[in-house]
Amino acid sequence: MPMRYVPVALLKTAVFLLSLLPLTWYGWGAWHDTLGANPIEAVTRGFGTWTLNFLLITLAVTPLRKLTGLNLLIRLRRMLGLFTFFYATLHLTSYLWFDQFFDWGEIAQDILKRPFITVGMAAFVLLVPLAATSHNAAIRRLGGRRWQALHRTVYAIGILAVLHYSWLVKADQSQPLLYGGILFVLLGLRAWWREVERREQLAGKYAPRLKRIIPILPRR
Ligand code: HEM
Repeated sequence: MPMRYVPVALLKTAVFLLSLLPLTWYGWGAWHDTLGANPIEAVTRGFGTWTLNFLLITLAVTPLRKLTGLNLLIRLRRMLGLFTFFYATLHLTSYLWFDQFFDWGEIAQDILKRPFITVGMAAFVLLVPLAATSHNAAIRRLGGRRWQALHRTVYAIGILAVLHYSWLVKADQSQPLLYGGILFVLLGLRAWWREVERREQLAGKYAPRLKRIIPILPRR
């Protein structure tokens, strides 16, 4: 069955269940003690990696839709964005709980002292309003334009998240560079399309006037 005829509800259910796999994997691992010598680190890092994966997958929806013409992909974007927030919350909780034992003084010091924690925290704080306004009532209340402007902070969140990863890795930068490269392509495509759109709008605005001034211009 071609992708465009897959019922949306079925696709959404499949993506929902797939998105729960990382949680199941780490839950199973913790229960059966198969997460290696340092399970706490494995869980914190695992949820961090999946936060970044979901962030990039969410950012990939619009470019994929434009490139493939599969408009139904847009129906998955909200759920994928919410899974980004879900894994970010698990990642933050495992840090607060297992790394810091909810010692708020220590946590505040850590946020101020370690730049990778500072930018990670900034990324999380910026995610909160996006998750809180991800429902239709919020779009109606804010109005399309303001809602869109608010949700554009996801680009800054992407940059902060890659910085967070790059600053915490001590030697091998290959993974953060890979994530950074994917983010660059995803944001670059958007910037490119916006520029093309701007030029087309300009051309649409000025072409009729130009034709009036220079009537010999060939008609399209
Ligand atoms: C959007 C928000 C965030 C994203 C995308 C993110 C992503 C990541 C990634 C990809 C890793 C590395 C995983 C690996 O080594 O394989 C990581 C590690 C980590 N993150 Fe985050 N993170 C975020 C927010 C936070 C926040 C808010 C905190 C705490 C305040 C935090 C604390 C940590 C810690 C402690 C580690 C492990 C460092 C280590 O083991 O040395 N992160 N994060």
